[in-house]
Amino acid sequence: MRVLVTGGAGFVGSHLVDRFLEEGFQVRVLDTLDPKVHPHGRPNDIPSDVDFIQGDITDRGTLLAALQDVDIVSHQAAYQDYMPDFSRFLYVNAVGTSLLYELIVQEKLKVKKVIVASSQAVYGEGQYVCSVHGFFQPAPRSQEQLSLRQWEVRCPVCNQQAESCLLQESNTNPYNQYAVSKLAEEKIALGLGWLNGIPKYRRGDNRNSVSKVDKLKTLGWNPKYDLSAILDDFLAWVESIGGIPAQIQDAYGAMRRAGVVLPAMVGR
Ligand SMILES: NC(=O)c1ccc[n+]([C@@H]2O[C@H](COP(=O)([O-])OP(=O)(O)OC[C@H]3O[C@@H](n4cnc5c(N)ncnc54)[C@H](O)[C@@H]3O)[C@@H](O)[C@H]2O)c1
Ligand SMILES: [Zn+2]
Repeated sequence: MRVLVTGGAGFVGSHLVDRFLEEGFQVRVLDTLDPKVHPHGRPNDIPSDVDFIQGDITDRGTLLAALQDVDIVSHQAAYQDYMPDFSRFLYVNAVGTSLLYELIVQEKLKVKKVIVASSQAVYGEGQYVCSVHGFFQPAPRSQEQLSLRQWEVRCPVCNQQAESCLLQESNTNPYNQYAVSKLAEEKIALGLGWLNGIPKYRRGDNRNSVSKVDKLKTLGWNPKYDLSAILDDFLAWVESIGGIPAQIQDAYGAMRRAGVVLPAMVGR
């Protein structure tokens, strides 16, 4: 199994490379060795058994060469920090990620899975509740407010201090060039991945519908229903509607023909 780690010379990528090697993968790295991240050039701790390509993910030929015979892509390369070249963030993070999908689809590459790093930056300042005006997603705190050493987020309507609340992942609020580019990258990966079946087996994949709950039980969680009770309920319902409807058999046949039905797996 071969994995391509883009940005594999960086902070996160280099740890992933070590872990992939430990797990027995053949590892290839594509990294431009951005001088802002690597002022001393190529880090000397890149393991010797890594197939290292120095190059840019936005370069079509380079990326295509790096993708040859790859099963999994762990996409960590990104343009970061508060730099003033706004367009470069979109170019590397959004255009670079769409080029990855474009090549996989156009060249019919055998990539089975793409893992993309998003960022908490896509949620901006987080999510808050005002006791009078309810839920809101704050704009960045102003320079004026911060210079008064008022760190807490305030309601935009009544200006009273608001309480932070648990983040709803569906509510994003990016407000700088990095955050916008990372949200674009995330949406590209989710959208193009879904449309083109990358990873292919996610279509019609029910492997997460039955989870191993032993670890949650040791934390004190006591599930209300066990799996056999759920299955009994389901089968009773199927019987109550007069058996399995014909369209389910048709859909099952269509899915089998399309190769999207996998045998059930227990465990990892
Ligand atoms: N470190 C964090 O706290 C953090 C938090 C949230 C998200 N992330 C995301 O995790 C990923 C990895 O971050 P990191 O902290 O390891 O960053 P890093 O800067 O340490 O590593 C990124 C690597 O990508 C390379 N790179 C940059 N542009 C490239 C390009 N055009 N082509 C090829 N390689 C390129 C750099 O040379 C560098 O080695 C990024 O996608 C980042 O947005 C990181
Ligand atoms: Zn308010």
